[in-house]
Amino acid sequence: MTITTFSRFGRRLSLSAFCSLFLSLSAQAQDTSDHQYTSASIQAGSRVYVQQCALCHGPQGDTIDGVNLRRGQFRTATSDEDLARIISGGAAGGRMPAFNLRPEELNGVIAYIRAGFDPEGVAIRIGDPARGKAIYDGKGECSECHRINGVGHRTAPDLSDIGLIRTPAILQASLTNPSSTLQPINRQVRLVTRTEEVVMGRRLNEDTYSVQLIDSNEQLRSLRKSDLVSYELSSVPVHQPTSLNSDEVADLVGYLLTLRGLE
Ligand code: HEC
Ligand code: HEC
Repeated sequence: MTITTFSRFGRRLSLSAFCSLFLSLSAQAQDTSDHQYTSASIQAGSRVYVQQCALCHGPQGDTIDGVNLRRGQFRTATSDEDLARIISGGAAGGRMPAFNLRPEELNGVIAYIRAGFDPEGVAIRIGDPARGKAIYDGKGECSECHRINGVGHRTAPDLSDIGLIRTPAILQASLTNPSSTLQPINRQVRLVTRTEEVVMGRRLNEDTYSVQLIDSNEQLRSLRKSDLVSYELSSVPVHQPTSLNSDEVADLVGYLLTLRGLE
């Protein structure tokens, strides 16, 4: 288990930690060997998409009602098998035509969609949502920090609709390469007040005069900046790259994609 806990968070704020993390990141190579989709496949898929799909779905994949291919929002499809079936067989009584693609073209265009339309994207793999849920609830210990539809803790972002707001590529990277996906608003803060109280937590909101956060006791706090003697914002994510193997990561991504809020 390599995810750091909140108690260790204070130590991670040091400047040298920021710098060394940054350096190690730029040198890090992405291992794609055991993934289903390679970067080459994603690039091949981008060509198929531009030639065959963009006409109707648009360059950003969002021109058809209820479908946003770049964000992974579909009408009926959830798995890669569903996507393959729809692309090869057509949909909506022929309004979406059937495509007779070669296997590598079909794989490629699915990979391109799953990579969030990023031709430079890393290999993405989407596994089984049911297995992913079991990992989430079990050995992944995700609910120690996260909350889904009211269950779990509040120290980390609520994941109830994460499948709507993040692409598969970003979800995978949140686990395998967290520094690349840290959202500014999710950054950890350490505040010291005039009364010498130290408050650590996750920033929710901030304006010129105040900052709102969830502290390490899961309390919502709003503090006036004029009451603070120090305010540090960490650029180091709480997540370390996960120690789960790539099958488990794929299953977790499959599960997270099914989280679409209360529909
Ligand atoms: C002639 C227009 C057209 C072209 C070309 C086209 N599509 Fe579609 N596609 C549609 C329409 C219309 C829908 C909505 C179907 C519905 O209403 O259920 C759709 C839906 C989809 C869906 C969601 C289906 C679901 O039920 O979840 C996917 C995925 C998709 N298209 C992928 C592609 C890909 C990949 C290509 C290129 C290989 C492509 N489409 C080319 C018109 C098109
Ligand atoms: C120790 C607490 C902790 C645990 C355990 C944890 N997370 Fe997180 N997670 C966070 C925090 C805090 C963030 C906000 C970004 C950061 O600081 O890393 C986050 C961010 C995320 C995000 C990105 C959210 C966004 O808005 O894009 C995803 C996805 C995620 N976690 C999934 C998981 C999964 C899946 C597990 C279990 C394998 C897990 N987390 C375990 C604390 C945790």
